[in-house]
Amino acid sequence: MIVITGASSGLGAALAQHYAEQGRRLFLTGRSSGRLAKLAASLPSQVHWLALDLTLEEQVESLFNQFGEVPSMIIHCAGSGLFGPVVDHSEAQLKQLLDNNVVSAGLMLKHTIARYRTMPLQLAMVVSTAAQVGKANEVFYCGAKWAVRGMVEAARAEIKADPMRITGIYPGGMNTQFWQQSDCRGHVDAAGFMTAQEVARMIASGLEHSQVGYVSDLTINRG
Ligand SMILES: NC(=O)c1ccc[n+]([C@@H]2O[C@H](COP(=O)([O-])OP(=O)(O)OC[C@H]3O[C@@H](n4cnc5c(N)ncnc54)[C@H](OP(=O)(O)O)[C@@H]3O)[C@@H](O)[C@H]2O)c1
Repeated sequence: MIVITGASSGLGAALAQHYAEQGRRLFLTGRSSGRLAKLAASLPSQVHWLALDLTLEEQVESLFNQFGEVPSMIIHCAGSGLFGPVVDHSEAQLKQLLDNNVVSAGLMLKHTIARYRTMPLQLAMVVSTAAQVGKANEVFYCGAKWAVRGMVEAARAEIKADPMRITGIYPGGMNTQFWQQSDCRGHVDAAGFMTAQEVARMIASGLEHSQVGYVSDLTINRG
């Protein structure tokens, strides 16, 4: 079974489609139950789903309690953006951004490690190329994603002796609803960005691993 967070749209939904076409059993999460139900009904494999807010630890715990089996892979895709000059953004927007990106990633890391560090599970954390270089008009977003990258690298060091593996995934721009919801107000034109479907295919091939080796970090840049 593969668990995908942020599966109600964009990259998470494209990953769900990709793995469902390979007949993989899926457990999908997002906040929108309507979109999750619609996606699950359209997929050609066995799919469970749960709508929840990953910024709340009791909801993250209840998610893990419902798996029913040990997942082979967990792909954490959930997140949100905020773009434009730093002076335009409020404390409330900053806190919401940190919740959706940093708190959700921290709780997924914590609970995956707590339950599965002794098992050969692969945890893939979707971050962003915004965690690799500082970008204008992305001050708070870069800060959030650098924090996620730091947690990924530190957690990997902490469980080094265990069979669980953590992969950091760093995509460049994708043309998803993310940009409409990110207050980018003309700072970004996503029309020429990668599609979520092509990025999902590249991630899936990057997540293939052998008995002794795996891809620890995967950057997907626009060509
Ligand atoms: N689009 C890009 O250009 C780009 C580039 C690099 C990295 N990324 C990163 O890739 C990931 C996916 O992006 P995307 O483009 O697919 O965005 P998207 O289409 O906006 O999807 C974001 C997903 O995250 C879920 N989500 C957000 N906050 C959540 C929370 N607090 N609890 C549970 N679920 C939550 C959303 O659920 P609901 O919609 O149901 O609320 C949705 O399923 C994000 O982490 C993003 O930062 C995006």
